[in-house]
Amino acid sequence: MNAHPAVLPRLAQLGGKEPEFHQLDIRDRAAIGGVLEAGFDAVIHFAGRKAVGESMSDPLGYWDTNVVGTMVLLAEMRRTGVRTLVFSSSATVYGNDAVAPFDESLPTAPINPYGETKLAVERMLEALARAEPEWRISSLRYFNPVGAHPSGDIGEDPNGIPDNLMPYITQVAVGRRDRLRVFGDDYDTPDGTGVRDYIHVVDLALGHMAALEYLAHNSGYRVHNLGTGRGYSVLEVITAFEKASGRPVPYDVTARREGDAAQAWADTQRAEAELAWRAERDIDAMCRDAWNWQRRNPNGFGNEP
Ligand code: UD1
Repeated sequence: MNAHPAVLPRLAQLGGKEPEFHQLDIRDRAAIGGVLEAGFDAVIHFAGRKAVGESMSDPLGYWDTNVVGTMVLLAEMRRTGVRTLVFSSSATVYGNDAVAPFDESLPTAPINPYGETKLAVERMLEALARAEPEWRISSLRYFNPVGAHPSGDIGEDPNGIPDNLMPYITQVAVGRRDRLRVFGDDYDTPDGTGVRDYIHVVDLALGHMAALEYLAHNSGYRVHNLGTGRGYSVLEVITAFEKASGRPVPYDVTARREGDAAQAWADTQRAEAELAWRAERDIDAMCRDAWNWQRRNPNGFGNEP
């Protein structure tokens, strides 16, 4: 489990309301069904594993949680009469040969078990909505979510050494890690480092609200990208972060990380037109809020020092 119970009182404070919380396993049919029996209008399904390297060493675990878990959820939604679902998919389904910007009609070609489980769920959802027209299902393909709530009270706290760029940068800036490793500067990009479409988590959250609104007026199945439509290189992110935080981020350029693409960013036209949503927060806000969270919570929610 990656989430931390310390987030709950903070959510209550931010939202002015204690959230109802049940800790259970997405594969536990009785437990999921028991919660759904209370009666829900819709489900936003975030429960999944998302570390690429781990998915290569534990593919069955990834299929079990991400795919079997979603099958359990769908079966119990159907049994309890809930037919509206927003699913957390990933831009990783486009694979590494696609040319940015990625639009939703591109062929999909994930290159690791994690991406394959996301695509398998997408296909399952599409087929379900085709077979049973009362379903309303949205798959949101996230690009690179970063940042934190602007209060600095809730943010990203990965277990162990961060895999992803932004939490690694914030941990270097706060003194928990010595130096960042930049994975390759010989890509075919303007400065040679990898380019990604970073999106502020608050914009991402608002994208889910927009998807629910969309599903209120549209049945069937639809995929939307959630990105800003703009790419930043690793070096540009470092520079933006140093400016936002006033802290240096020492780094070394190392070999490429296996499986990394040169560049990936979203075509946002479909989301803008159909969800009436667009990401508003820029890279400076992403860095400022990521830093505000890390500075105020140098050890995250209290995990490893
Ligand atoms: C990664 C996953 C993606 C997943 C997403 C979840 C891979 C290949 N892709 O996306 O499937 O959906 O996380 O959050 O793992 N970088 C460094 N040094 C670091 C870390 C990253 O230089 O310590 C670079 C990477 O080479 C890349 C960029 O920073 O160019 C972003 O990396 P990262 O944050 O890990 O995201 P992705 O690899 O795009």
